[in-house]
Amino acid sequence: MSGINIGLGNNDTEIRREANSDFITFWERQAKNLSWFSTWKKTLDWSPPFARWFVGGTINASYNTLDIHQQNKADKPAILWEGENGESRVLTYKDMWTRVQKFANVLKSLGVQKGDRIIIYLPMIPELPISMLACARIGAIHTVIFSGFSAAAIKDRIDDSKSKIVITADGGYRRGNIIKLKEVIDEAIKDFDFIQNVIVVERTKNKINMSSKDMLWNELMHNISDTCVAEKLDSSHPLYILYTSGTTGKPKGVLHGTGGYLTHLYSTFKWAFDIKDSDVFFCTADIGWVTGHSYVVYGPLLHGATEVMYEGAPDFPDVSRIWKIIQKYKVTILYTTPTALRMSMKFGDDLPNSFDLSTLRLLGSVGEPINPEVWKWYFKIIGKEKCPIIDTWWQTETGGMMISALPGLETISLKPGSGTLPIPGLNISVVDETGNDVPPNTKGYLVIKNPWPGMLLTLWGDDEKYRDVYWSKYKNCYYPGDYALKDTDGYFWLLGRADDVLKVSGHRIGTAELESCIVSHHDVAESAVCGIPDEIKGEAIIAFVVLKQNVTAEALILEKELSIKIRTDIGAIATPKQIYFVTALPKTRSGKIMRRLLKGIANNETIGDVSTLEDGAAVTEIQSAFDELQKSIHKKSN
Ligand code: WT7
Repeated sequence: MSGINIGLGNNDTEIRREANSDFITFWERQAKNLSWFSTWKKTLDWSPPFARWFVGGTINASYNTLDIHQQNKADKPAILWEGENGESRVLTYKDMWTRVQKFANVLKSLGVQKGDRIIIYLPMIPELPISMLACARIGAIHTVIFSGFSAAAIKDRIDDSKSKIVITADGGYRRGNIIKLKEVIDEAIKDFDFIQNVIVVERTKNKINMSSKDMLWNELMHNISDTCVAEKLDSSHPLYILYTSGTTGKPKGVLHGTGGYLTHLYSTFKWAFDIKDSDVFFCTADIGWVTGHSYVVYGPLLHGATEVMYEGAPDFPDVSRIWKIIQKYKVTILYTTPTALRMSMKFGDDLPNSFDLSTLRLLGSVGEPINPEVWKWYFKIIGKEKCPIIDTWWQTETGGMMISALPGLETISLKPGSGTLPIPGLNISVVDETGNDVPPNTKGYLVIKNPWPGMLLTLWGDDEKYRDVYWSKYKNCYYPGDYALKDTDGYFWLLGRADDVLKVSGHRIGTAELESCIVSHHDVAESAVCGIPDEIKGEAIIAFVVLKQNVTAEALILEKELSIKIRTDIGAIATPKQIYFVTALPKTRSGKIMRRLLKGIANNETIGDVSTLEDGAAVTEIQSAFDELQKSIHKKSN
């Protein structure tokens, strides 16, 4: 086996053996690492595609992340917070516990009850995890929205979740600017009578309008009891909704439960990061995405770990910010994205080399495929050839890691660019269109053949869609929508999305969502969006646009208008790199847009590269569509 042989000396082969022989008993044993109020009667209730873990057990996520540490770790820092502007705050486990209980009482005093949904639209400040854990404490379902999303995007999510409280801030810092979050919320909720209150954290002290619904965080927290007993919740009680993009127009509300989800996180956090009491953990993800939910909030706090939480952009004031933070806080474990690494790598080795990174002992990557070249740079320049790199594959829907090397569990030979093996207890395969396993080294679709504890309960309010999106392509198999291959050593290589979902800087963007935004512009008749490889972002967005007849506006002006529209309707992360105005979109006889052909064109491929890829279209048909399109293209780049 070729590869970098590096491990931390742990080798718990018993775990794999047990997991392979009986995954249900295996997970049951892992669940016992958590504190339950009452134990379960049944470990797994599996009526495909609905899994309920630890049925009859009662538990609380806030209790498991805070109360259990008060005996031995009350004064241990939980969060070492670094503001973008250089400010810092330290919150111990005791501080977190007190604030969470107080804020849980605030929510209760506003009439929040078990099962209510609460929108959280906050920057990366400690009040964000505090709000989440306060919801969890009383059984309210938190719905965090990434603070880069626009008012229109928030509106959809508030409407779908029918949340009655919104928690936001006056503003947030991003690359030295103030993003006026409260203004965005004012716009997003103006048509919704069901919103009872907006709670505002004062972060930037910019001027805001306060209406009768609005209340200040500090005032609410001033005179309130710091004791709030954690609710005993059913294991399957929903912990949160997190909206994510898919192949359909509207984002889907991924619903996660409590007992199973926490079991998955407790285990993967321990196995993947080999966490020790002395570690300083740093995950650079924003809590607005699932990585932040699972490995900034729940995973580290379940273990009583100390972690760094950084407020701002990784490249502010320059690309060495992450390295500077590692030096300042003596970080031992770093979990970041290929995009952040590629950005840094572009500026050369001198920057990271000018910081003391010697405290690092383990490195992780998440969110998108990591190219071997970047992997090697990460290994050599950041890890000084002594830190294992774990490349962790998973999704919003899976709740936690699914494929990863696990230095806390076993020694394994790493191969740059491979996620290595599934975590114990999972049966993962690569299959063809008909569901048969493909031979080694053959590209196919990744499938998961048994339920796992972190898996989503359903899509909020839409069981049918849940069944349809994830469980209808293959019988009783979960279909994540990724291409993969398994090599002769059984190692998995993740090869990107197999559906119409893009990964731009690791963020998930649905092409259908973007297309419906573009066609809602009054001059646009039709649109198709695809991705092309991008040196830094992994993928960049390309839009093909057919204008309505008699549109006289210039392409340049329209392009600007469309970019603004996308920013307003979705957010800046969805802005296309290029917009092509074409006279028609290439379609098959049955009317399907030939997406891969568009992608081929955007990638400057020849017809030969794309002809075999198009489903259901004859080669001559593709040829003429290709010629037509090339003739009609007006390329405009940003
Ligand atoms: C999609 C899920 C993982 C949590 C953050 C993103 C891609 C994720 C990897 C990886 C290759 C990866 C997949 C997946 N992806 N991790 N290590 N290697 N691809 O969660 O936004 O739900 O996106 O991200 O395509 O399906 P997400």
